[in-house]
Amino acid sequence: MKYIVGNWKMHGTAAALEEIRGLAGAVPDGVDVAVCPPFTLIERAARVAEGTRLAIGAQNLHASEKGAHTGDISASMLADAGASLVIVGHSERRADCGESDHIVHAKAEAALAAGLTTILCVGETEAERDASRAEAVVATQLAGSCPGSADGLVIAYEPVWAIGTGRTPTPEDVRAMHAHVRHDLVLRYGDAGQAVRILYGGSVNPGNAATLLAIPDVDGALVGGASLTAAGLLAIAAAAPTG
Ligand code: 13P
Repeated sequence: MKYIVGNWKMHGTAAALEEIRGLAGAVPDGVDVAVCPPFTLIERAARVAEGTRLAIGAQNLHASEKGAHTGDISASMLADAGASLVIVGHSERRADCGESDHIVHAKAEAALAAGLTTILCVGETEAERDASRAEAVVATQLAGSCPGSADGLVIAYEPVWAIGTGRTPTPEDVRAMHAHVRHDLVLRYGDAGQAVRILYGGSVNPGNAATLLAIPDVDGALVGGASLTAAGLLAIAAAAPTG
């Protein structure tokens, strides 16, 4: 089943719960849909989505279980608030907060240990793609940040230059990178690597979703701007091949 995940980033106050309500009642059969609102909305969003096919997740966590980490939130706190998934290693956190592969690895391990589906993001910058280093960069990120077990793991390939820009790689470039990631996952995890879902992220919208989601080894989408309304995310979910 394709997996369509909205990453709201730093958007949304109580009024946005209306969008969660709209989504929760309308998730189409044959597609898994989740939304990751800001921390402040997780518990309320989870209540709204309770008993529906909409999953609620977080955008980040701290790798420690508890302790003197002012302002941080642990995996068990997220689960307690009603989150069933979490994003780790988003390029905005790698860039804004200096998150290294080492840190992302620790976060992924902590999230999986708490039973959270863990969406681990990788992707190259434009300069790296222009230098024909995209696959090498992604391989290094995977090597440094993948957890020991593939159980509950999802990878999101998000080219940094495609995020929020309206630009996407060509379908052939997406196909090639997802094949590369799949190959890496199978080498790393054996058969379990075949079952890891690989999402594409970066300027996915209702107009390009059908094309992107039809590419081999594109098992879903991680959606930023177009996920902020129920209508936007539902249109993308509707474009996904079912089954
Ligand atoms: P956009 O869909 O706004 O390009 O954002 C993608 C993203 O970063 C999702 O995590």
